[in-house]
Amino acid sequence: MARKKIVAGNWKMNMTPSQAVALCEELKDLVKSEDVDVVYCVPAIDIVPVVEAVKGTNVEVGAENMYFEDKGAYTGEISASMLVDAGVKYVIIGHSERRDYFKEDDCLLNKKVKKAFEAGLTPILCCGETLEQREMGITLDWIRMQIKSDLVGVTAEQAASMVIAYEPIWAIGTGKTATTEQAQEVCKAVRDCIAEIYDAATAEAVRIQYGGSVNAANAAELFAQPDIDGGLVGGASLKADFGKIVNYK
Ligand code: PGA
Repeated sequence: MARKKIVAGNWKMNMTPSQAVALCEELKDLVKSEDVDVVYCVPAIDIVPVVEAVKGTNVEVGAENMYFEDKGAYTGEISASMLVDAGVKYVIIGHSERRDYFKEDDCLLNKKVKKAFEAGLTPILCCGETLEQREMGITLDWIRMQIKSDLVGVTAEQAASMVIAYEPIWAIGTGKTATTEQAQEVCKAVRDCIAEIYDAATAEAVRIQYGGSVNAANAAELFAQPDIDGGLVGGASLKADFGKIVNYK
């Protein structure tokens, strides 16, 4: 069965609650699609108003982060069950900004991935290399290490249902997109790694996004690659262009 494309916006730390609602209104007709799953991953404080604003549309809401504990004394954190109760369906885990600025490591991310599944959320697990790692020629080893450690204890059935976003760090927010060949090469390596951990059917089912300066001009070529099942979009998800990315064909 062909995999359905999935295009997710990663709003990062942008949009106040009222701006968020206005953006949903602006994008509403532009992001309509039957062929592509559309997700807005939004700041925690925007989740409740955005869930309300997209009601009755084809848009699902995602969080940008969560904590792995169920509840308790973790000031400032948000649990998986809070997200589910608020109407969230997806959660970004291990974005390179969280790995870098907030020192989230693969051991912590593995706990978050498992908790997300346990709660019924679909993780969008991010991986990606630095420019230095690419120049050293260790991109594929690095990505495989991230995927393998983040998925310890995750079942084949769970893995088949998840989304993995390959985002070369040097391409994020820089306007420097990976070439189509580079993006396809790593997305294929991610799929091969899933086949190795699980089996061919799981690898065939998992959806793998490319992220890093995706825009209305490059989406069609990227998404046409055999192992690229859509995109995780930062900057371009905050404007009308996002509609063109969703409707890239
Ligand atoms: P960008 O961000 O599209 O602005 O490069 C992508 C991401 O960080 O998810």
